[in-house]
Amino acid sequence: MSKAEIAVLVSGGGTNLQAIIDAQKSGIIKSGRVKAVISNNPDAYALERARLNGIKTAVCNKKELGDGFEDKLIEILEENNIDFIVLAGFMCILSEKFTSRFKDKIINVHPSLIPSFCGKGFYGLKVHEAALNYGVKVTGATVHYVNEIPDGGKIIMQKAVEIKEGDTPEILQKRVMEEAEWKILPLALEKVCSQLNKD
Ligand code: GAR
Repeated sequence: MSKAEIAVLVSGGGTNLQAIIDAQKSGIIKSGRVKAVISNNPDAYALERARLNGIKTAVCNKKELGDGFEDKLIEILEENNIDFIVLAGFMCILSEKFTSRFKDKIINVHPSLIPSFCGKGFYGLKVHEAALNYGVKVTGATVHYVNEIPDGGKIIMQKAVEIKEGDTPEILQKRVMEEAEWKILPLALEKVCSQLNKD
């Protein structure tokens, strides 16, 4: 069985992309390989991480492309014969037209235990701010399939992380990444790729 060709969609620092690249190198991810990294933000450091690892990059600038953004994204994905898409800190909401075209072929990592602190407006540090403001004692990360409802697709994997006295959103974000996101994203990606029927 050949490996699934993966595209990772990013917007920022790309530490989750790095976790995927490292897991590919260490053999945790063996049923797929990252073929392309696509960013809506031309300045994303994630693009540099891809280049440093010899992975093809593309920029699909939502501000410049406007309504043509998703069509351009689809064009890049198809040109590269992509089988599977990972949203790893990708800060754009995708329409139903896009998600239905790649049904069960897109996963996302979200920095909370869904269904808490998720959906429209909950991204990046805002998620951790909300968890701290609410006063929950446990948070975590979730990897889930992507459908037309923001953060609403079927859950694949979750991991809990303890909230500690004195946590700031930044401290909590780092702990959730280290203890949960960077671990479950590669594991979930290997799981879904190994289930893909690709002869
Ligand atoms: C991660 O914490 C990721 O879970 C989150 O943004 C960060 C990206 O960091 N994504 C969302 O909030 C999406 N709703 P990274 O660029 O270093 O991987």
